[in-house]
Amino acid sequence: METIVSLCKRRGFIFQSSEIYGGLNGFWDYGPLGAELKRNIKESWWRSMTLLRDDVVGLEATIIMHPRVWEASGHTSTFSDLMVDCLLTKKRFRADQVDPQSGDAYFYSGASDAKAGKESKDPFSVLIGSGKHPEYARKVARLFYQQRGIENPEPLGERFEPVKNSVRYNPDNGALLTEPRPFNLMLKTYVGPVESADNLSYLRPETAQAIFVQFQNVLAVSRQRVPFGICQVGKAFRNEINPRNFTFRSREFEQMELEFFIRPDEAVEAICGAVAKPAGPGHPGEPQPNWGWQLWHQYWVEERLRYYENIGLPRQSLVEYWQKADELAHYARATVDVLYKFPFSKRDEKGELMGEELEGIAARSDFDLSQHQRFSGKAMVVFDEELKASWLKLDAAKQTELRDRYALARSHYLQKVGETPEKAAMQAAIDGEALSKGYYVPHVIEPSAGVDRLALALICNAYCEDQAPDEKGKLESRVVMRFHPRIAPIKVAVFPLLKNKPELVRKAKEVRDLLRPHLSVFYDEAGAIGRRYRRQDEAGTPFGLTIDFDTLGEKGPELQDTVTLRDRDTMKQERVKIADLVGRLTARIR
Ligand code: GAP
Repeated sequence: METIVSLCKRRGFIFQSSEIYGGLNGFWDYGPLGAELKRNIKESWWRSMTLLRDDVVGLEATIIMHPRVWEASGHTSTFSDLMVDCLLTKKRFRADQVDPQSGDAYFYSGASDAKAGKESKDPFSVLIGSGKHPEYARKVARLFYQQRGIENPEPLGERFEPVKNSVRYNPDNGALLTEPRPFNLMLKTYVGPVESADNLSYLRPETAQAIFVQFQNVLAVSRQRVPFGICQVGKAFRNEINPRNFTFRSREFEQMELEFFIRPDEAVEAICGAVAKPAGPGHPGEPQPNWGWQLWHQYWVEERLRYYENIGLPRQSLVEYWQKADELAHYARATVDVLYKFPFSKRDEKGELMGEELEGIAARSDFDLSQHQRFSGKAMVVFDEELKASWLKLDAAKQTELRDRYALARSHYLQKVGETPEKAAMQAAIDGEALSKGYYVPHVIEPSAGVDRLALALICNAYCEDQAPDEKGKLESRVVMRFHPRIAPIKVAVFPLLKNKPELVRKAKEVRDLLRPHLSVFYDEAGAIGRRYRRQDEAGTPFGLTIDFDTLGEKGPELQDTVTLRDRDTMKQERVKIADLVGRLTARIR
């Protein structure tokens, strides 16, 4: 990973934020190449989600929203990680990231300094390797008691106990950690001139909630009907306890989220007679009216995997991880995490990289819209004409069955969020009646991806070292970033063979200006041609064009107005007419 981190800085993909002031942990800036890469990722996602589909529309909402949004979503009460602090150094860890350790734990009941007449009754404990001299533990304990104002402490009441796989000690120094306690990950701010509790707000920890909050407005203006989706790309902020693995876990990052709203299964059954069952793994094909949440979920998992492959992440570098029942949020019916095998991923018992999350695709039931309906008092239901018409054709037994099933699910949700069983039953009965008249709160499938994690995955995937001939044909090693042309920061480099020949420079600039409106071009006339190629290989530019004397027609009219097109990966060169360049190159990057 160090090689990649250093290339990112050297070539201007990623810099530490505020570097000249020592940096800020968990914050990263994207340099010229990184900024282009990120733009390409976001554009390719937006294109695949909205421009190439009829059933998804976009949204761009604010980062700071009404604080009640985060009460409704559950973020103020439950969006926390358990954290522990080292009692000696105060270093903070996420409780689930402390590596288990074994050894001898030494316990102290306090410490005293007889000369100074001082004493501390604070208990403390230190873990040291099995069989090591207790003096190691005493040394750490003395430091702890010194911090409590005892200058020359003598630890008291020493006893020891062997421990196995404990996560209660700091792996760096063996000092005891605090008890785990929840730490809310939302970054706070104040809106307006007064820093009071009334003005407290949050930087959004995800982009998704704005989509739910604006659901009715978007529905009203977009001429969409369920099933349809709303997507958003934008910044999110989380006060992560341990930002780590370069940009992988940052405190400021960007998300690309889709909320795809679907009918509840009871409505699908009323309209289509039955809900289709998945025929097996893989892509289920074009969406059908009889799909329930399961097929829609499978569809989006497969669509997202296709997207990643389409921008150059091979299928074997990805893992499709189905969350187990005890890992699912209480409202989620299924969640698939798409993992990428980063170099820093843990390995399984066979030594295979297990992967780290790029994206989660969750079937979230009707939880989110229902929560905003409860908290805002504004209806989040839709009216479904087809459901109303189909319902009237059902026999009484079927109507009762579907209404009861729907009401039961609503009652479960209401009780989960704290309503009394009586109140939940009453509201659920009303919701069941509403269903029979064509009204329901849509369910949602949520593919939620991180731009920065994807950028890092693409950088890791692109990095390659191989051999290439220099000017004299001698092989030398080169670093090449094999980005897919769709995602590469620069698509084509244009080089005049020599910079001191005005005719070559003029022609090369003509070619540059011809291509610029269609794709990102880098013009370079400095240095030997081989070195210019190497620079672009490191930047991941898939195509290089050289304008030479043949282009000017010096070897005859048949080569006039042709250039050498060099492929970054194969290093093969071919002669191409200038007139054909736009068509040839744009076909490769679409
Ligand atoms: N709305 C659902 C949601 O936010 P999440 O799994 O918490 O779900 C979705 O986040 C995606 O956002 C993750 O899969 C990851 O790509 C990205 N992400 C989350 N936390 C991140 C962090 N601290 N740094 C970088 N990316 C992060």
